[in-house]
Amino acid sequence: MKQQTSEQLLKQIHNYIEKLSYSREPVQLYDPIEYVLGFGGKRLRPVLMLLAYNLYKEDVETIFSQAAGLETYHNFTLLHDDLMDNADMRRGKPTVHKKWNPNAAILSGDAMLILSYQFMMNDCPADCVASVMKVFGQAALEVCEGQQWDIDFESRENVSVDEYLEMIRLKTSVLLAASLKIGAILGGASDDDAQKLYDFGVKIGLAFQLQDDYLDVYGDPVVFGKNIGGDICSNKKTYMLITALSEASGSDKDELQKWISLSEFDDKEKIASVTGIYNNVGVPELCMNKIDSLYAEGLRLLDEVSVSDDLKENLRHFAGVMMKRKL
Ligand code: IPE
Ligand code: IPE
Ligand code: MG
Ligand code: MG
Ligand code: MG
Repeated sequence: MKQQTSEQLLKQIHNYIEKLSYSREPVQLYDPIEYVLGFGGKRLRPVLMLLAYNLYKEDVETIFSQAAGLETYHNFTLLHDDLMDNADMRRGKPTVHKKWNPNAAILSGDAMLILSYQFMMNDCPADCVASVMKVFGQAALEVCEGQQWDIDFESRENVSVDEYLEMIRLKTSVLLAASLKIGAILGGASDDDAQKLYDFGVKIGLAFQLQDDYLDVYGDPVVFGKNIGGDICSNKKTYMLITALSEASGSDKDELQKWISLSEFDDKEKIASVTGIYNNVGVPELCMNKIDSLYAEGLRLLDEVSVSDDLKENLRHFAGVMMKRKL
């Protein structure tokens, strides 16, 4: 079987998405779509899907529309997420609601959600379409559930690590996992393999969101492309904050409680103080350990997929690349 590396697949899906044209009226609806889909992003979900498909079949170009569907859905979530998170920067550029206005993020986002379903249906083989749409629909709804928990948790203090993990499973992991599963279904994998790939995706997705939360504090804003400290300002119940709340003692604990309860504050001051407390408590190391163990659990699940080990090398390599990301 002819296998392609993640780099080769990425190049092809980049080209495919770049060529998609939304030059329709009204331009105010379609311009933000071109803007967000045009300026990069790592295209992780399409690449995961194509890598999973390529475990079973070679003709990856036959499912580029489904891959574009996943990327379009993901970018829809970003438009709404940035509005909900009040985030000004994404991929090193102003977010859609900043460049245009909140209505643009809402309506262009809605249009992208619909487009994503059209891409997913487009030329989807008849024997797969029902199962593909079922997996996609479930993931798409679960992302909304996760996003609501994420917002609910901002104003709750007693969020447990398990609740956090379930929230990020929903908002982030299920789409990565569904990407792998849809690729597997389209490739003709057994139900058992498709599920194992999904479970692998859930674990690396959890590690991926922990890493995202870590970079939101410790990343380089120029490389990461997002403003640093947004999660701290909005009291996002990340693994780091939950850990700091349970592990901090003495003045660190009081100080952390104070910052969480203040409704008005200077962003820079809050970010610096909370980051300082994280450092005192050893939060970065604890977070990295958790990422490593989730990643290792994921790799063990990938081992169980019933294709030869060398066929899985590209997928294993790509998971490694995802874990080492700085952007
Ligand atoms: C951002 O996803 C949202 C999260 C789930 C953390 P990505 O980090 O995949 O964003 P892009 O598409 O590469 O910009
Ligand atoms: C992302 O969570 C989840 C979705 C977009 C569904 P974040 O809010 O952490 O993502 P970023 O950091 O804004 O990309
Ligand atoms: Mg966000
Ligand atoms: Mg968010
Ligand atoms: Mg984030």
